[in-house]
Amino acid sequence: SVIRVEDADGVTHELEPVEGWRLMEILRDYGMGMEGTCGGAVACASCHIVLDPEWADKVAPPREDEIDKLDELPFLHETSRLSCQIIWSDELDGLKLTLVKEPT
Ligand code: FES
Repeated sequence: SVIRVEDADGVTHELEPVEGWRLMEILRDYGMGMEGTCGGAVACASCHIVLDPEWADKVAPPREDEIDKLDELPFLHETSRLSCQIIWSDELDGLKLTLVKEPT
């Protein structure tokens, strides 16, 4: 299966994900500039991504702690998610997302 990732420069990358891995781990291992500082504990929000609107409903919805953490971000998109909270399954084949540059 494949994930289509648009980076902060607008370049699209095709990654081959591994079933059962967190999206954050996949993006990090592909060197996509993903930090994932807290390792998936919903504590850092450095794994913020924006899902393509067409995919937003196909991914399992966020839990309360993810929603709360997203709300702390300085900017948010309609389909923002924390990529550490999305576990890859091959049903998501073709998923499109955009990486966001966090303001420093
Ligand atoms: Fe820290 Fe996702 S890796 S919130």
